[in-house]
Amino acid sequence: MKKITIAIDGFSSTGKSTLAKQLAQQLGYVYVDTGAMYRAVTLYAMQHGFVSPHHLDAEGLTADLKQITLHFVFNTELGYGEMYLNGVNVEREIRTLEVSSLVSKVAEISAVRAKLVEQQQAMGKEKGVVMDGRDIGTVVFPDAALKIYMTASPETRAQRRFAELQAKGDSVTYEAVLQNVNERDYIDTHRADSPLVKADDAIELDNSNLSREAQLQRVLEWVAAKT
Ligand code: C5P
Repeated sequence: MKKITIAIDGFSSTGKSTLAKQLAQQLGYVYVDTGAMYRAVTLYAMQHGFVSPHHLDAEGLTADLKQITLHFVFNTELGYGEMYLNGVNVEREIRTLEVSSLVSKVAEISAVRAKLVEQQQAMGKEKGVVMDGRDIGTVVFPDAALKIYMTASPETRAQRRFAELQAKGDSVTYEAVLQNVNERDYIDTHRADSPLVKADDAIELDNSNLSREAQLQRVLEWVAAKT
């Protein structure tokens, strides 16, 4: 079977990464979580004082981008790559609500986007990749053979993210998570550079009422039709 590029875009907590990981495992493809890359840059920006709730030094961060190296290191137990920032595993730190509340601001900076898009394109050059994010089908791989645009209501998504954070022992409220989901939706769809938008040739998948298994089967059929 020929290998293709699969682009999955959509709002936060639509279940993109769960679907993308399962697809990659089934197909023997590489999974790339581009949100993890924006989150890792945000963590770096927090650690170096370039971003906080009331402040963003876009110029300072841009000047420092050369100091940032990002890698995914495959974890055989988990079955996917974990995010490393300058050689350190930051998989846990990048999933906190604090990073979630700042990442969309950092992702608005064009120089940050340019750096990450270049690395993402290099990672997908051999095809056989499932990549999820906000601009994969529109900017990173406009020629991807299969583009999926995932949606679900903000409340469904906030409930999922809340359960995930609670399971990790983070003390957050559902209301705070819902507010974060709505804020990120707004910034991600209104930014000037690469806003989240459904590509003309993307297939929409609303999974508010679809089980994980049903989603996977549906998408595997779409893949089979392309390969
Ligand atoms: O997918 P995830 O929720 O982890 O992404 C975190 C944030 O990173 C998004 O809210 C968005 O601001 C940014 N992002 C982006 N472009 C991508 C992936 C993520 O702007 N391709």
